[in-house]
Amino acid sequence: MKILKLGLIGHPVEHSLSPWIHTQFMEQAGIEGEYKLYPIEPDVFDEKIAALLQSGIDGFNITVPYKQRIIPFLDELDPDAAKIGAVNTAVRKNGKWIGYNTDGSGYVRALEQVIPSQESLHVLMLGAGGAARGIYRALVTEGYRYVDIANRTVSKAEQLLQLQEPETITEILSSEEAQNRLAEYDVIIHTTSVGMSPKAEEQLIALANLKAQAVVSDIVYKPIETMLLRSAKLQGATIHHGHSMLLYQAQYAFEIWSGQQVIIGDLLNQLEQRLTEA
Ligand code: ATR
Repeated sequence: MKILKLGLIGHPVEHSLSPWIHTQFMEQAGIEGEYKLYPIEPDVFDEKIAALLQSGIDGFNITVPYKQRIIPFLDELDPDAAKIGAVNTAVRKNGKWIGYNTDGSGYVRALEQVIPSQESLHVLMLGAGGAARGIYRALVTEGYRYVDIANRTVSKAEQLLQLQEPETITEILSSEEAQNRLAEYDVIIHTTSVGMSPKAEEQLIALANLKAQAVVSDIVYKPIETMLLRSAKLQGATIHHGHSMLLYQAQYAFEIWSGQQVIIGDLLNQLEQRLTEA
């Protein structure tokens, strides 16, 4: 049987949890394979990538800082990855390299484990960086109609409007407006790095004004329970932890590479344990 050869490129990649996650998926799917780490220094990126693409590898993930830099090396892009302008998953199909972005869709799959339905929900996304681009695109393609964006730099949030679908209704807010209008939202998604360890005491926005029964989601997963999530919990909100996104973006990537569906099941608890011990 052919061995599925997978891996991850980035700088740094040493502490990545992806080898563990994909090993679990391969075991579950009964696939024999490997998922190796490929740390690449920025000054040798071009030659290392050229060699990797020729190496017989079947697919790989791309992480910071190469999600844009990989694009010219690929033969085709999935239309959403092209729109987002970033690729985190590459697959070799019939001799061609195709790029996808599973970050945003993975995030939405993860979120949908805790939220009921979608179209009428009012969503507020905090932040407008690379992570926010993928998440916003996935939300609008999954049919979320009302997705407002608040960012410290308002002009950066406005750039995300290019990712809208015709039926999307998005208002751009300043941080202050977001704070004042918080009570309007059913779902609040924090996409910036504020609150990430070692600055775990920081919180982008105060939640004083939160709607009853709101869902507050944070893509930061170190610490697992950020200040933002702790304060949301204290107010009775449903909280959604960032580490679930790691699993669901990987699940979608694994589907692209292997054509097989795998389930998350107990992996969420196991990942939480690993992150807590780390
Ligand atoms: P990523 O690719 O991880 O999303 P990024 O592209 O650098 O990272 O984007 C970072 C996001 O976090 C931006 O929305 C940024 O706001 P600005 O566009 O105003 O820079 C936001 N951000 C980071 N640090 C912040 C802080 N201390 N306060 C408010 N917003 C912050």
